[in-house]
Amino acid sequence: MSDSVMPGASQLLSKHVEESQAASLRAEHLTCEMLVNPLGTDEPHPGFSWQVVGTGYNRLQSAYRIIVSDDRQTVAEGLGTHWDTGHIQSDESLHIVYRGRPLSPFTRYYWTVELWDENGSNSAAAQIAWFETGLMGGTWPATWIMAPDVGPEGKLPPAGTSYDNEFSLDPCLYLRCSFTIGRPVVSARLYATALGVYKASLNGDPVGDHEFAPGWTDYAKRLSYQTFDITSNLVLGDNVLAALISDGWYSGYVGYNRRKPAAHYGNKPEFLAFLRIVYEDGEVETIGTGPHWQAGRGALVYSDFLKGEKCDATLAALGWDRPGFLASGWRLCGAGRGTPAKLEAQREEPIRVQMEIPAVAVRAAPDGSWVFDFGQNIVGRVRLRLAAPRGTSVSIRHAEALNPDGSLYTANLRSAPAHDIYVASGESEELYEPQFTFHGFRYAAVSGLPSQPSLHAAVARVLGNDLRRTSSFETSSELINRLHANIAWSQRGNFLAVPTDCPQRDERLGWTADAQVFFHTAAYLADVSAFYRKWLVDVQDAQSEDGAFPDVAPQICSDRNGAPAWGDAGVLVPFWHYERYGDVRILRDHYPSMRRWMNYVGRANPEGLRLHELNLNYGDWLSLDGTASKPVLATAYYALTAQVMAKTAEILEHAEDLAEYTRLHEKIRSSFQRAFIDAAGRVQGGTQTAYLLGLYTGMFPTELEEAAFGHFVADLEAHDWHLTTGFIGVRHLCPILTAYGRPDLAYHLVLDTTYPSWGYSIVNGATTVWERWDGWTQDRGFQTPSMNSFNHYAFGAVGEWLYGSMAGIGAAGQTGAFKHFSLSPAPGKGIEWCSAAFDSPRGSIRAAWRRHPDGISYEFAIPANTTANIILFREVDARILLNNQEIADDQDIHKVTLSLGSGNYQVNVWHKPTSHAQACNNL
Ligand code: BGC
Repeated sequence: MSDSVMPGASQLLSKHVEESQAASLRAEHLTCEMLVNPLGTDEPHPGFSWQVVGTGYNRLQSAYRIIVSDDRQTVAEGLGTHWDTGHIQSDESLHIVYRGRPLSPFTRYYWTVELWDENGSNSAAAQIAWFETGLMGGTWPATWIMAPDVGPEGKLPPAGTSYDNEFSLDPCLYLRCSFTIGRPVVSARLYATALGVYKASLNGDPVGDHEFAPGWTDYAKRLSYQTFDITSNLVLGDNVLAALISDGWYSGYVGYNRRKPAAHYGNKPEFLAFLRIVYEDGEVETIGTGPHWQAGRGALVYSDFLKGEKCDATLAALGWDRPGFLASGWRLCGAGRGTPAKLEAQREEPIRVQMEIPAVAVRAAPDGSWVFDFGQNIVGRVRLRLAAPRGTSVSIRHAEALNPDGSLYTANLRSAPAHDIYVASGESEELYEPQFTFHGFRYAAVSGLPSQPSLHAAVARVLGNDLRRTSSFETSSELINRLHANIAWSQRGNFLAVPTDCPQRDERLGWTADAQVFFHTAAYLADVSAFYRKWLVDVQDAQSEDGAFPDVAPQICSDRNGAPAWGDAGVLVPFWHYERYGDVRILRDHYPSMRRWMNYVGRANPEGLRLHELNLNYGDWLSLDGTASKPVLATAYYALTAQVMAKTAEILEHAEDLAEYTRLHEKIRSSFQRAFIDAAGRVQGGTQTAYLLGLYTGMFPTELEEAAFGHFVADLEAHDWHLTTGFIGVRHLCPILTAYGRPDLAYHLVLDTTYPSWGYSIVNGATTVWERWDGWTQDRGFQTPSMNSFNHYAFGAVGEWLYGSMAGIGAAGQTGAFKHFSLSPAPGKGIEWCSAAFDSPRGSIRAAWRRHPDGISYEFAIPANTTANIILFREVDARILLNNQEIADDQDIHKVTLSLGSGNYQVNVWHKPTSHAQACNNL
């Protein structure tokens, strides 16, 4: 096979270029620290990014100018009082780090950017964006508060009151503070955080729409705080700032060793907040939490992630969060113990309700409950509309699947009851939705209602971090569309505070291997830049003294860190993040901890094979062929991390480290070859994953690669063309098949519906990705309930291939966060058409293809200020038309590369009439 590279292909388009070049470039989607208009940042040198947009072809940004000021009007007039970069000759548009006057706390800064195009013409300035600083490390004018210390006669039940035999939960705490506003306010902010989770309100109205704030970090080390604009909530006269707090990750049950009352972090939730009010006369007043706040109880009895929530509306303290409430029986707050942790402005998108899903059916279950089916396995909770006599106890239980008799299958929740209880107030219509819990479910069984509920009585409310969706993907195959949807659903729900493994059972942890194998898929589906950046800090925080990265981050449950492929995430994800999002600061921030990990592995394995310090060595977790290849897997990952370290050292210009890691990589590779590969290219253990990892990490001698690939294909054949891979191998299956010239087998795997395959789960009703290939089988029913989640994204790592290869966006390489990338669609048998769009950090990329009797037509969109190589394969005598102009080239050539600048392209690969039938069959 030979290549034909046509760098001049875009010259064919010179006519279009002249016609369409008139319009100037625009900067759009302005972000600061990867967020749109962040309200509250503590970053003294925030990074600015934008996408370059412009019609026509070969559009390039040749220069930019950023201006920053604390006054909007000034920026509108084109002046940057705090920073004016001046005309900077550069095509960079990502993470331009602020180097202006020192930023002050509590200040809104406005910014915009002006661009110059390839001809030196400048754009109109972009829209004005802003960011607002938070405390910037300053002292909080507030003190931590918690429940009062209550004696036996006190109104407040003591913390740790048991509500059943198994779970002892802190009652939710209601906190309030009255204050008066005597003159007009120009702006007001609430800065708030909790050891626990909180919801704040002002005069009865919710402040913001965050869920489970402040999110989950290693609370011993750092804690996020949130900033809310409450200017419009304040009124002249009496006001009440209130907060409802609950255990959350801090003092509630989390993980498989649920650990309460000796909780993972602390025993009782606490709250810290202050209002910062700027009056018209310029005076600033702060009102903070402190001993004058009142504490009481209300309807929310307890709320816990694993247990569920109890809300007793008969106990409601009506009006507790508004002025005029008679807080009789309420006590002054206790002084909180606070935390030595660092308080930092939240750096990622908050968790929010993402959408509502109506029920598709409601049926009676054998136990008399009513089972709502939402038609989709989700992460969230139910909002129930009901009418019932006062004191009626209504219960909502959750499950991902049903038993054959229509009752809920809850065994796989393990010790998580996932049970919400509502005690009705007796009003003619009541609406109940839990506040501080979430469940993984498709079905909800409601019992205790006086009569049969209507289908509309329940909706499912979907929760997750509010990440910007960055892609769309559709094909002619319903099976593939469902696979894509299942992956997207598993990401949506499991990206909740941290990338969790699953949402339903007593686990919900940030498993590091899961998060690394899924990273590339996740980064196609959504903008995960800020989300993963935050989680990488959790990974760093969890690194042990000896340098071992954790198996779960934040680190709870296990105190054994550093399994191969799990701990390695601490090196791999920062690098991949840099590759995808282009922020070199992430490498700088993580490089010291990446080095410590390499030293940790290296100390125990001086010979280059990774055979020691393997800790909980999970191998190719949940593979179907045993774990015989564990040393191969561990050593391949060691080689991969050494290579990543060498690349990182090169980027950061650490010449000695570059040499050191290059040597290390060579040493590992030759040790690997001596120990694990025979003369015929067979790898020790012989599992699919061993071959895949060996090929992916370049461990085979070049001359044995084809042979090794052959052995891998033979293993697929020996399994009747079925996969056997677990969490670690699955990501590489389809990409390696495609890269080594057998995309037909990749198509076979994704279109297969026999066991084991992705399709098998789909034809058996999966609406999310299952944890195990045999989560449920026709022969054996459910897998062991001790570990059988139906919403676990790891096997969804095939999503990377759907975008990268089936649609063709980026699989053959990308550099500079999609500054330059490949478009190499691989149409395959069984699919008539495929259409995908990916909003990369640099703008929207599109790739689509469709079969015709005469061949295949392709459509591509390459964003301004980027370039791409379109790589196509064709039958030897096929003609190629680029925007309807035939490309004259050597027709013996099978692989064609068109190097193009920005623009919209149509490429037709038409077969000569004689070869039609043959060619289409072969594709
Ligand atoms: C988790 C997985 C994780 C694994 C490691 C499981 O319990 O759900 O996602 O990677 O443990 O052994």
